[in-house]
Amino acid sequence: MASSSSNTPASPSDTSERKDAHLALAADPLAMSQVPSGFDAVRLTHCALPECSLEEVDISTSCLGHSVSAPFFIGSMTGGTAHATAINLALAEVAESAGIGLAVGSQRASLEAGQSQRDLRRAAPSIPLFGNLGGLQLAAPGGLDLAARAVDDLQADALFIHVNPLQEAVQPEGETDWRGVIEAIEAAVTFLNVPVLVKEVGAGIGANVARRLFDIGVHAVDIAGLGGTNWTRIEAARRDDAELFAPFLDWGIPTVDALRDARSACPEGRLIASGGIRHGLDAAKALWLGATMTSMAGPVLKAMTGDGTSPPDAVAAIKVIEMWKAQLRLAVFLTGACDLAAFAGVEGRISR
Ligand SMILES: Cc1cc2nc3c(=O)[nH]c(=O)nc-3n(C[C@H](O)[C@H](O)[C@H](O)COP(=O)(O)O)c2cc1C
Repeated sequence: MASSSSNTPASPSDTSERKDAHLALAADPLAMSQVPSGFDAVRLTHCALPECSLEEVDISTSCLGHSVSAPFFIGSMTGGTAHATAINLALAEVAESAGIGLAVGSQRASLEAGQSQRDLRRAAPSIPLFGNLGGLQLAAPGGLDLAARAVDDLQADALFIHVNPLQEAVQPEGETDWRGVIEAIEAAVTFLNVPVLVKEVGAGIGANVARRLFDIGVHAVDIAGLGGTNWTRIEAARRDDAELFAPFLDWGIPTVDALRDARSACPEGRLIASGGIRHGLDAAKALWLGATMTSMAGPVLKAMTGDGTSPPDAVAAIKVIEMWKAQLRLAVFLTGACDLAAFAGVEGRISR
């Protein structure tokens, strides 16, 4: 989530310091939203008589022309510093080994510093790879070219544009002029030769915005709701005047609400669920609510680096992802379905 003040552009070293601070803060308990994502209120109905074997339950699917072992991908996380580069490379190895997609964090810092992330595609040749750029950077002069370079550098299958007005408003170096961003996204849909996806970073995308994004041709919307890693809290922790933002620390649309609202407003739209998905049962509930894919960011970082500063441990991250797959498979089995297509129609309820 790169940004620069509208008055004083951030230097590459400012951006790097900010990104390393983000990595450490994201792994801190203070970064967790105090408002729940809403998955605890969703109960899938137990089936006492499943008619298949647990081992045969199929959770594989396809994503952007690639077969994947589960409807998961690793959510966009930072890039552009030496520590972040090491993490991204390890994430690429993890995603390739687990057979799931990988979304990288904002590529702006690395592209502007003239650094390539081409190694990631080499480490992950067979999985869906999603690039990432901020909506504000896309709308700035030269934004479309930057987007094309982001796709090209990564040999990405798709590009995520992140929209994060709350985070930018709280970020000490953030930008607050969002005029022209939707037009820039529409231009990118036409200009780029890969699908364009739009995501929030944990405050949620509501029904109206989702509908406008599908109307301009966006391939998928990741509602990225409230309930997981909380960027308002992370950015506020970097300010001296945090009190100003205290009432907004848990502003946003909880993930389950955002997903249900977007699903009913855009019945045909491809929705991705993220924000506070913490295990395979949460992912199962998100799929049941109508998501076609789910992603986790903070929990993968935590599994891999502990406090966010340790060297990346790919084996630990693979172990956690394999556990999430086993949990999703168990949830599908216990509702009496044998694959994801049948799972979409099982019974459940939302207690509110
Ligand atoms: C360390 C870290 C860095 C992130 N950097 C980006 C980024 O550059 N671009 C982006 O779109 N989202 C970024 N995110 C947000 C995530 O993609 C995701 O939307 C958010 O963390 C909520 O998901 P979670 O609860 O699974 O962590 C970042 C998240 C983390 C934890």
